[in-house]
This record gives sequence, C-alpha cells and structure tokens, in this order.
Amino acid sequence: DAGKGEYDHYMLKEINTQPTALSNTIEGRIEDGDVAFESLPPGTFADVDSVQFVACGTSYHAAMYGGQLVREAGVRAEVLRASEYESTAGPVDETTLVVAVTQSGETADTLDAVRKAADRGARTLAVTNVVGSTAAREADDAVYIRAGPEVGVAATKTYSSQAVTLALLSQRLAGDVPDAAPVADRAAMLEALEDLPQHVETVLETSTAESLAEETLDSESFFFIGNGRGRSVALEGALKFKEITYEHAEGFAAGELKHGPLALVTEATPVFAVATGGADDKTKTNAIEAQSRGAPIVAIGPDDHPLVDIADAHLSVPDTHPVWTGLLANVQLQLLSYHAADQLDRPIDKPRNLAKSVTVE
Ligand code: G6P
Repeated sequence: DAGKGEYDHYMLKEINTQPTALSNTIEGRIEDGDVAFESLPPGTFADVDSVQFVACGTSYHAAMYGGQLVREAGVRAEVLRASEYESTAGPVDETTLVVAVTQSGETADTLDAVRKAADRGARTLAVTNVVGSTAAREADDAVYIRAGPEVGVAATKTYSSQAVTLALLSQRLAGDVPDAAPVADRAAMLEALEDLPQHVETVLETSTAESLAEETLDSESFFFIGNGRGRSVALEGALKFKEITYEHAEGFAAGELKHGPLALVTEATPVFAVATGGADDKTKTNAIEAQSRGAPIVAIGPDDHPLVDIADAHLSVPDTHPVWTGLLANVQLQLLSYHAADQLDRPIDKPRNLAKSVTVE
C-alpha cells in the first residue's frame, strides 16, 4: 500500500498522475510539427491499405477513439472487439495492419485475434504499456504508451495514454498510406497535444465531480451519451461507472437513445452528455429529448459549448483543439465514477469479479 502515497486508492493516484503519464507518452514523439515514433520511421506503413484495431474493455474504447482519427485521415479502419474477431473481421491480407491495443499485452482474447490475423498474412502492431509483454513480443512491431504501472483494476491513465498514442499513430498512417492525408490543421493539433498534460491538471484542480456524484447518487440508472469521438468517451464513462460503483450504467451513441433506451429514461436516470469539439448536434437534440422526459442532463465539455446552455449541470473542461476535448471529458468522468464509488464505500481498486488482466478466453 505504500505505493498509494498520499492517495486513498491506487485509482485516485492513477487519475491524478495522468499529466505525468501523458508527458511521458508524448516525450520525443513530436518533432518539427510532425509525429516522430522511434520504432516506426516515416514510410513504415507505405504498403498498408486498411487497419483493423482489436481490443477489449477500456482498451477497446481507446481503440474506438483512435479508429475514428484514422478514418478522419482517409484510411479505411475498423475497430473490432477481440473476443468477436472471428465473426466480425472483414477480409484480411498482407495490406491489412492489425493493431492490438492492450494495456497488459496479455489479454487472451486480444492475443488470439492477433494470431488469427497474422495467420491470414496481416501485418501486426502492438500498442501496449508493458515492455516485453506477449503482445509486444509476438507482433511485428510494438509501440509503448509509457503510462507507467497501473494497479487499479479499472483502467484510467492507460486509457488516456493509449488514446494519445493512437492519435499520433493516426498521423503516421496519414503520412504513409497512399491517398491518405493528415488532418488539415495537424500542426495546431500537435501543438495542442503538448498542452494536454496542463489541461488535464486544470481539470484535476477544478473538477466539481465529487459534489455532482453526491447529488446524483440516489438514481436508478446512469446513462452516458455522445457522438463521434464523444461516443467512445460515453461508452468508457459508463463502463468505468458500473465497474466500480456496481450501479447500473449504460453508454449509447447519442442518436440511438430514441431507438430504445429512451423507454428507460425518467427523472431518476441522469444523462451525462459528452461534448466534443466536433459535431454534437445529435447529442444536444437527444439530450433535450431525455430532459423533456424529466432526466437531469449533465454536460461535460468546454464552457461555451451549446450543450452547456441546455444542461442542468456541467462538468467543465478547458478549451483546446477538438481532437483532445473528449480526453479531458473522460478525466471528468473518471473522477465522477471514483467519487460515486467512494461515497458508496466500494472496494475501488479491486471490484468484485473483475481482474486487471484476463488471460483466459
Ligand atoms: C480486463 C480489465 C479491463 C481492461 C481489459 C483489457 O477486463 O478489467 O480494465 O480494459 O481487461 O485489458 P488490456 O490489458 O488488454 O488492455
């Protein structure tokens, strides 16, 4: 327990040390307004035609975030649940890059998916936190997220470091894959990335998630919505919340709320709406739908975001390049889950039935 230092739980320590983890993730990887990966020089992916991400749990949500950026760069990309690889993967050949996103590098489902892809001729890349892990050893290449050891079963800092690493990877792919193109304002995006650790610090210092957790704790269910990059953040917010509070929480693509989940919405089901810097019109209109059924709406986003105007409560994040807004919103949701679980006196670092790394299929 000495490793917890001044914190009551490893999870809180890991949330609070994200600025350092992110600085390590980024260190040396941005040079002259471009991405620099020690193990993946420019041209590495010149033969790649499409990308498949495979991952589980929180890593799957980080992969969704990265996958969206890869698609925005004009590269064909699908994000697959590793446990479903056999039934969901499209065609694979030597022009397919299969990226295993796995904190531990030991998740059985993820390793199995990568092995199946390699058998079909795919090129493989492990994005992992653990040097020398099975995924790193077996894949053709490895990129380390450099988040440092994570003890809490619920992944926090490794999600942020994975998402940033995958965002950088998206720009390497954009430069290498024929007909792809980096985001128009890549220099601004990378400049804003260098400020991300400071923005996370601001969220940690100013967050009102603890009092909001107290105000909303007496609810029946907790819903999280977002679209685009915000969808993966909403899914991750719900996963974290249910993992450590044992309360019912679900994440949805904002536009899907009206196609079923709305039947569950009442004044006892707060809806956490994730703002991104991108198109959030659907998140706003669906939040208003839920609000008209009595649900309290909590907006998570920058102060001047349109969602904030209609929300009943707000978790604020600093203004930055839109690519990074969702990651700041995610830090607010980590704090919300942590404080809710703490107020319920749950065993935060070791939730029942869950393991840090699942090495069986
Ligand atoms: C387990 C953990 C999750 C984690 C998932 C994938 O389910 O409880 O927190 O996201 O495994 O782990 P990996 O090491 O592959 O990222």
